[in-house]
Amino acid sequence: MYTRSAGEGLPLVLLHAFPLSSAMWLAQREGLAAVCKVITPDLRGFGGSALGEDEPSVDVMADDVARLLDREGVDRAVVGGQSMGGYVTMAMCRRHPDRLLGVILADTKAGADTEAARANRERVATAVLGSGSSVLVEEMLPALVGRTTAQRRAMVFGRVRGLVQSAPPQAAAWAQRAMAGRPDSFDTLRGLKVPALVIVGEEDEISPVADAEAMVGAVPDGRLAVIEKAGHLSALEQPEAFNRAVAGFTAELAGAARPHG
Ligand code: MLT
Repeated sequence: MYTRSAGEGLPLVLLHAFPLSSAMWLAQREGLAAVCKVITPDLRGFGGSALGEDEPSVDVMADDVARLLDREGVDRAVVGGQSMGGYVTMAMCRRHPDRLLGVILADTKAGADTEAARANRERVATAVLGSGSSVLVEEMLPALVGRTTAQRRAMVFGRVRGLVQSAPPQAAAWAQRAMAGRPDSFDTLRGLKVPALVIVGEEDEISPVADAEAMVGAVPDGRLAVIEKAGHLSALEQPEAFNRAVAGFTAELAGAARPHG
């Protein structure tokens, strides 16, 4: 699994959104390296990671992350993800709860897909395999960022477009099928034994604020950060506000781990 890391200290794994790569976390590697060891892998098939032969599943991606922690010599980490990365984080909560110090769920949702959403993912998977990433640019790019970014921040929008265009078709199809098969995670969140930070861009149309509120309501120990003037890619659209929320959370966790007196 290809990984970019920066900094020292509390291990923080950040899992990227669909159909991007660890390149989306540039501002987090730069901005959070002073307080954490920031570990940002490319999920299977994206960026520098091989796709492999396994059947599509978010569980397979979660097991990849657990193996990455073994390789890095990290016993427990704060694990977080944006959107698809959040689905993988919830699969980590199910399959590898003993590896978690805390979780961050950003612009994601705990519910499974509806039948219509599953059918649409299969349509996109077939289209991307047939004609390449143009379907992703045409159909997904517009909703990936919020209206503020789309209207006023051409550089950020251009960067997201570049990342979407470079998504490998095989990986995009595999990931669509993996996401289509993911289960409902509300029970998993209700049973979470570690603190959770839920982040959402106030302009997110794909995983709106209501989805974030539902996750905060489910976890036993949750807090919510709503990021202003950001959409579905809040980490990339408003990195300073996103990083402030994450740094506050990791400071809280580091404080709780320190012996009292
Ligand atoms: C993402 O940003 O990772 C996707 O919007 C997730 C999804 O398609 O559900």
